[in-house]
Amino acid sequence: WSDEALIYVNGVRRLLPDGLAHLTLLRYLRDIGLRGTKLGCGEGGCGACTVMVSCYDQSTKKSQHFAINACLAPLYSLEGMHIITVEGIGNCRRGLHPVQERLAEAHGSQCGFCTPGFVMSMYALLRSSKQPPTKEQIEDSLAGNLCRCTGYRPIIDAFGVFAK
Ligand code: FES
Repeated sequence: WSDEALIYVNGVRRLLPDGLAHLTLLRYLRDIGLRGTKLGCGEGGCGACTVMVSCYDQSTKKSQHFAINACLAPLYSLEGMHIITVEGIGNCRRGLHPVQERLAEAHGSQCGFCTPGFVMSMYALLRSSKQPPTKEQIEDSLAGNLCRCTGYRPIIDAFGVFAK
C-alpha cells in the first residue's frame, strides 16, 4: 500500500508523495517549473491560472475536458487526471498551437500576464466541443479571464477564427 497519488502533467506521469495536502495545483505546477500558469488573484477571480483538466467519464466512456482555475484546486483532488498547461500545447521551439499563433498574429497580448489563461480557456473549449463553437460560446468561455490592459477586442477577434 502506498500513500502516493498519481497525476499526469503535459503527458508526463507524476507521483505525488504524501505530505502535499497544503498545495494547490497552481503552486505545484510552478514548483515543478511550469511557470506559464500565472498567480494573479489567487482566489478564482482573474483566470490567469487557467489550465485544462482531462478525465475519463466511466458513465459515458469518454474523456472530458475542463478549464479550471488552478489556484482553487487542491492538488490531491486531481488524482488520476491529466493536466495540460500552456507549456503542453506549444512553444516557440516546437511550434505554437493555432490558439497561441492566432493570439500573437492578432496582437491579442499586451503585457502578456493574462495570455496563458486566455489561451488555455480557448484551448479547453476547442477540445471539449464536438463542433466549432459559436462566437457567443467563445466569449462565454473567456468570461472568467480578466485582462488588466483591457485588450479584449483583439483577443476576441483573434479567437473568432475558430468560430463556425
Ligand atoms: Fe486569479 Fe487563479 S490566480 S483565478
